[in-house]
Formats: sequence, structure tokens, C-alpha cells
Amino acid sequence: MGALAQYAFTVHRIPVGVFGASGYAGRELCALINAHPQLELAYATANAQRGDRAWLGGREVTFVATDDAPIRDAELVFSALPHGASAEWIARARGEGVRAIDLSSDLRPGHTTQAIPYGLTEVAREQLRGAEVIANPGCYPTAILLSLMPLLSRGLVKPGSTIVVDAASGVTGAGNSPKPELLFGEVTENYRAYGVGNEHRHLPEMRALVDSFEPDADLLFTPHLLPVARGILATTTVQLTEEIDQPLALWHEHFAGERFIEISGDLPALRDVVRRNAVRITVRKAAGLRTPTLIVLSAIDNLVKGAAGQALQNANVALGLAEGLGLPL
Ligand SMILES: NC(=O)c1ccc[n+]([C@@H]2O[C@H](COP(=O)([O-])OP(=O)(O)OC[C@H]3O[C@@H](n4cnc5c(N)ncnc54)[C@H](OP(=O)(O)O)[C@@H]3O)[C@@H](O)[C@H]2O)c1
Repeated sequence: MGALAQYAFTVHRIPVGVFGASGYAGRELCALINAHPQLELAYATANAQRGDRAWLGGREVTFVATDDAPIRDAELVFSALPHGASAEWIARARGEGVRAIDLSSDLRPGHTTQAIPYGLTEVAREQLRGAEVIANPGCYPTAILLSLMPLLSRGLVKPGSTIVVDAASGVTGAGNSPKPELLFGEVTENYRAYGVGNEHRHLPEMRALVDSFEPDADLLFTPHLLPVARGILATTTVQLTEEIDQPLALWHEHFAGERFIEISGDLPALRDVVRRNAVRITVRKAAGLRTPTLIVLSAIDNLVKGAAGQALQNANVALGLAEGLGLPL
């Protein structure tokens, strides 16, 4: 390749768009795209905030109405629209021949009958290469499912048992539309459960993946609201088919070479992962129980590995770029 062609090759950036760019996940995406060495932001859309400007990833972004987005100017579009509204815009993009990554729940397992790759990158990497459309996982499912893969993939979850998950998220997990229960005065110096009763919107996608490995196990999930902006900590209790002598070694072995998955003997904390595309996991044996049981803890930033970061990781894989490009470690 001549010097000029080499220069053109290295400066060519792939244009990508963001629907719902004015929301929490969309702003995070714009910031990551603006700092990405091989992508450029072709358009960023908003609803009520159309026409507003924001400084994201070191550049000014002006939000256009989603109806006015020049969809075809992008090779790939991310949708960070609310569930219910997203599927229609993904279909429009696909109709224009543009690849799409949906951050909403609309295209995830349990929400659609279409066979769409579920973008838990470290699990589905091979399916994501060259994919035209990807359903990006929910934030809680990302933290929980990745942390359980060493057990699920080896058939170590006890048939007939219930996997019990208690998890807590910062308030950005609820999006930026105003809600009285999310006012500072309600959230600060407080801690409470919500969605109690095992009916959270993230359960269908989690059940689908658990069922694909151990259809005879149940899942009981109770989310909580933390008085912080970002971060999820999930504590999952799993009964096993057999005692595991060195559980941490199993996690290390399973995730060997995965740059965004950090296995540690220390208990994970939000400060380890906030503003990073990392999942930090540890595992402990539960003492004093008749059935061999593990307690698995995992932490992520809901807006990075739980949303925009993983979406960008998936875009890198789908577009044939290096998987870690533009992602904060
Ligand atoms: N927050 C998280 O931690 C997280 C994690 C994983 C996945 N997700 C998913 O990512 C998506 C975005 O989440 P978010 O937290 O960023 O939500 P958000 O802060 O409420 O942002 C929603 C975005 O969609 C736009 N919008 C709202 N209603 C619309 C409508 N009827 N038609 C067109 N555009 C509309 C908003 O525009 P205006 O603000 O300009 O009105 C905004 O840009 C959701 O599907 C969510 O489930 C979120």
C-alpha cells in the first residue's frame, strides 16, 4: 500500500448513528464514539431535547429529531430509545440497509420470536461477527449472566434448584425522564427494593440463557435502588451438582484472556468498575449448608458494560474492528 493509500486507510472512519442520543445510554454512546479512533458520529437523535447541544467525548453534538435522521448516512446505528419505541426504528434502519444494535429490550430473547443474536459479547462473539442486527443485553443480565457462565456452561447448576439474585443499581439505570420516586430527596441516604415479585423486565432474557444450559433451574431476581448515579452490584446464590474445591480457579480458567472480565479474590465494589467497560467478579463458598452452594458477586457500570460500552464492543466485533477499540479499561 502506498503512503497516500495507507494515510487514507488509517483516517477513514466508519460513520455510525445514535437514536435516543439525548438519554443516559445515548449520551454515553456519543461520548465513546467521539473518542473512538475508527468511528465517527454521523447523527445523534432526540425527542424532547431535539435541537439541544451537548459536549460529549470532547466534541459538541447537536441532537436532531429522530424523524429527521439521515439514517443511510451511517453504516451502523445504535438505538438507545425506550423499549416499545425502539423496534420500529431498528426496522426502519434495517430497511435502509443499515446495521443496527438495539439497547432496548425489544429484540432480546423472551421479547421477540425473531432469532436475533444476543450480544453478551464474551458468550456470543462468534455469532456477532458480521451481524446485521444485535440485541444488546440489559444491564442487570450482563452482570448476572456473565458471572454465572463458568457454572452454566459446565452443567454445575443443580437441576431443580433456584438461582437467587439480589442486585442493586444506581439511578441512571432508570433513564432520564423525571419520576417523583427518583428525586434526589427520595433517593439520597436511602436504599430500597423495587419490582419485588420476580417480574422484572430483565427476567425473560435471563431465563432464556439459563434455560439454554439448565432448563430445570429457576431464577429469582430482586432489584434494589442505590443512592448513586452509576453501577450495579449483583449477589447470586447458586446450588451446585457437586462441591467445587477451588471455585475461583474455575472462574479464572473460564475467562482466561478476556480483557473486560476481571476475576479477583476480593469482593467487587462499584468504585472498581465505574466508567469502565469491566465486569469484576468473585466467588465464595457458602459455609454451613447441606447442599454445595456458591455465592457469586459481580459489579459493572450499568451505562458502560451494562449498555453503551458493551454495545460498542459488539459494534467493533460486527464491523470487524479490534474488539477493545475505543473502550475504557
Ligand atoms: N440506563 C441504563 O442503565 C440502561 C442500560 C441498558 C439498557 N438501557 C436501555 O437503553 C435505552 C435507553 O435508556 P436510557 O436510560 O438512556 O433512557 P433515557 O435516558 O430515558 O433516554 C431515552 C432516549 O429516547 C428518547 N425518547 C424517549 N421517548 C421517545 C419516543 N417516544 N420516541 C422517540 N424517542 C424517544 C429520549 O429523548 P428526549 O430525552 O430528547 O425526550 C432519549 O434520547 C432503553 O431502552 C433502556 O432500557 C438502559
